[in-house]
Order: sequence, then C-alpha cells, then structure tokens
Amino acid sequence: MTSYTIVLTFIVALGGLLYGFDTAVISGTLNYIQPYFGLSEAGLGWTVSSLLFGSLAGVYLAGVIGQRWGRKPSMSAASLIFILSALLSALSVNLWMFVSARIIGGVAVGIVSTLAPVYIAEVAPTRYRGMLVSFNQLAIVIGILIAFFTNYFLVDTGENNWRWMLSVMAAPSILLFLALFFVPESPRWLVEHGYREQAIAVLKRNLHASDVTREVAEIEDSFRVKEEVSYRELMSAPNRKVLLIAFVLCIFQQITGINTIMYYAPKIFAMNGYSGDIALLQTVVIGVLNLVSTIVAILIVDKVGRKPLLLLGSLGMGLSLLALSVLYRLGLQGGTGVLAAILCYISFFSLSLGPVIWVVASEIFPNRIRSKGMSAAMTGMYAANILVTVSFPVMLTRLNGATTFFIFFLVCICCFLYVLKYIPETKGKSLEELERLLKK
Ligand code: BGC
Repeated sequence: MTSYTIVLTFIVALGGLLYGFDTAVISGTLNYIQPYFGLSEAGLGWTVSSLLFGSLAGVYLAGVIGQRWGRKPSMSAASLIFILSALLSALSVNLWMFVSARIIGGVAVGIVSTLAPVYIAEVAPTRYRGMLVSFNQLAIVIGILIAFFTNYFLVDTGENNWRWMLSVMAAPSILLFLALFFVPESPRWLVEHGYREQAIAVLKRNLHASDVTREVAEIEDSFRVKEEVSYRELMSAPNRKVLLIAFVLCIFQQITGINTIMYYAPKIFAMNGYSGDIALLQTVVIGVLNLVSTIVAILIVDKVGRKPLLLLGSLGMGLSLLALSVLYRLGLQGGTGVLAAILCYISFFSLSLGPVIWVVASEIFPNRIRSKGMSAAMTGMYAANILVTVSFPVMLTRLNGATTFFIFFLVCICCFLYVLKYIPETKGKSLEELERLLKK
C-alpha cells in the first residue's frame, strides 16, 4: 500500500467524519431545542430523525450523481450542502427552518456515507480493502467524538449554545471541500467513462507497477457486464442471498439501539438527574470509549474474523442492555451503574456491529452488483435508524427505561441467533472466492 493511498483514504474519510458529526451533534442540543421550539417527546423524535429522512434521499441521489458526475464532484457538492445546512440550522428562527436545514444536511450525509466507502474501496489495493474501509468507521466515530467534545465545551455559552454546537460542522465541511481538490477521480469511474489513461495514472500512484495492468483489465471486465445490473436482477436468485445478508445486518446494526445512546445520551443522563454539563461530560466518555474499541476492532478483525466478533458483540450488547433494564427496574437509574452498563454496551458495539457490518457489506457483494447492493443495504440502515430514533423518546416516557431497554436486549439476542445461523465467515478469502462460495 502506498502512502498516497493512505492520504486519499484520510481525505475521503472526512466524509465519514461529517456523517458521524452531523448525526451525533444533535444529542447536545436536545435539552435546549426542546423547550425553544416547544417540542413534545414525539416532536423531538421527529425533529432528531428529520436528518435521516434527508439521508434516505441522499443515498438514492448518491447512486445517480455518483454515477453521472463521478464520486469526487458528488462529494464536493455534498460538502457545500453541509456548509449550507450548518449555517441554516444554527440561524434557525423557527422549527420549520430548523427541520429543513437538518433535512438538507441529511442529503449530504446520505451522499458521503455512501460514496466515501465506495471511493475508498475503489482506490484501495484489494488486499487492504477491508482495513481501509474500516478507517471510514474510525472517521465516523471520530466525528461523533468531536461532536460530543464541542457540545461539552460550548454548553456554557448562553442561550445560543445549541446554535454554536450546530455551526461547528461548517469547519470540517470546508476542510473536506478544499481537500477534495487534491483527490483524483476514482479509477473505476474513469474507466467506465472512457478515461482509461487517467485511470492508469491514478492506479499507478496507488498500486505496485505489476498490479496496474491486471487491475485495469479486471475493472474493464467488471464494467462490461455491470451496466446491465437492474434492481430486478439484484433481487433475483444468486444475488438475493447476499443482498438479504447485507440488508438484515445493516438493519440489526440500527435496531439493536446504538443511536438511542449516540443521539440521546445527554437526555438519558439528564432524565436520570444529572446536570447539563455532567450529562455532556458522560457523553464525552462514551465517545472516547467508542473510539478506543473501534481501534481495537480494526486491529483484530482480520485475525479473529468477522463472525466471532459479531457473536461476541451482539451477546455483550444484549447483556449490557439487560443490566440497564434491571437497574431501571430497581429504580437505580441515578447511580453510576447506568453509565457502566452503557459503557459496556458501547464497547461491545464498537468491537463488532459498528465496524464489522461495513466490512461485511462491502465484501460479500459480487463486483458487478456492489454499488447497487450497498445502496440498497444502506436504505435499510437509514430506515431502521429512523424507526429507532423516532420511537425511542416516546418509548422511554410511555414504557419506561426498564421495558425499553429490555426490548432492545431481545433484539440483540435475535441478532446473535441470526449471525450464528446465516452469516458466513469472510475473513481471509478473496472476493472471487467469496463470490463462488456464496453462490452455492
Ligand atoms: C453507525 C451509526 C452509529 C455509529 C456509532 C456507525 O457504524 O452506522 O449509525 O451512530 O456507528 O459509532
């Protein structure tokens, strides 16, 4: 792997960072926007999830403009949309302006969260693809952590604190916009659109000389048939199996409840009696642990394998949620036990469902259906995220914490059983081997 590839990965992973930042920054603003806009619990759920509706549109748009304009200009456009959204949401004078700004930001989130991993996979040498795609998750987690940190530091800036929190996003967006000038278009897009020489030039900077000719031949070969892939073909016999695996895994990543913590942690802590800044400080601790566990996962995922990590993770997440539910049932939600259980839950998620789902989804699709398949799986991910984000505040108040977390515990157990029965181990196998294996 060349240092050039690493630089490209880091720049494009800024897209992942924006995804993480923009989705998590809302958590620090909840206790302020709820009274400011006069939101009920249901209204809060819809407001938080408004961004995700925009993301659903963004995921679709990514497929269209990523194909037509190329990956790079699409991501540049998304970074401009991020800047616009940051400014509009920070300057919002009423709920409609706020929700519109968040939806616009969501479109950008959908575009970069689809195209950043696709771009990284397209410039990466095959044997490092899994690791480099995991860097995207690392960037997501760093984005979340930056949001938690800046929320914490800005909480005492007065009644406009939530506006400052939201405006911070403009900085990494501008950085991404500028840094993209140094990034070439994806070699796959170049080959597909007849820019063979430029594609070779890009590949020469990313791969060893001996690999370039073979890679160009493989790319050309995959594109000869790729154009014919339709959604009908994607859903039909041999493809249906992998599509279902990626789709269901993406849904499990969300319905096991990660974003109840990522988006609502300060609210949970505030409901449990902590003051605003302590609630945000506890959230920062969550973000740090999220980062540390993700790094551990990146280091061990190729050795331990995907399946054992997913099994360990879903079981550990489930048991942590069970503990959380029991603590609520016993009326101990004000104690440190809740923080400890949440920290265990986060560690298990970041070791498993966090990074591993992206890795598995990016490697189980045959070459020619990968981008469409990814986009379909991502639709499942955002739809499931919306479901959880909208329902969580209502569940928490109507059902109480004990029942809510018990339901998420049951979902984790279902995830464990699904992985046990249906997920093949993909570690150490070439994409072509996987293609053959999964066709059976
Ligand atoms: C998920 C996000 C989540 C994040 C937490 C990502 O893999 O897609 O929804 O907020 O992990 O670290």
